[in-house]
Amino acid sequence: MYEFAIDTTAPKHQLYTEMLRSADALTAGEPDAVANMANIAALLWEYLPDVNWTGFYRAIDGELVLGPFQGKAACIRINFGEGVCGTAAAKGETQLVKDVHAFPGHIACDANSASELVVPVRRDGKIIAVIDLDSPSLNRFDADDAAGIEALAMILSDRI
Ligand code: SME
Repeated sequence: MYEFAIDTTAPKHQLYTEMLRSADALTAGEPDAVANMANIAALLWEYLPDVNWTGFYRAIDGELVLGPFQGKAACIRINFGEGVCGTAAAKGETQLVKDVHAFPGHIACDANSASELVVPVRRDGKIIAVIDLDSPSLNRFDADDAAGIEALAMILSDRI
């Protein structure tokens, strides 16, 4: 069992500093990718206020396949270029979407989702997964969230 003292009312930069420290400690030395993704999905769920989905899609044979997550059951396969996740994977760029209903091709897995942040994870320059966060609130994620999750993607690069 892992207990983290989480103050979700702490300033965002402090929350991310602590989340990244916990993520590093949880995954260091553990070679099993599924175990690490499962724990990180749970950690994001615990640390981040106002989210309704946190998890991974893995890049397998040219498409994204659902990985460990917290939240409602979700779409299993997403083509590169489709939706917010597929766009992040195809472009190799973080997607910060303030209103998913205004994003062409957004895939509504959970009708409650209103905003979304998707960050690619790379190993040796190749995209191996994306980290996906959904929120029921419009405009939930900003550049600080993007920077925090991009730092997480760096930590996970050779651990998932
Ligand atoms: N909304 C995503 C699909 C994945 S779910 O949010 C879990 C998208 O448009 O790619």
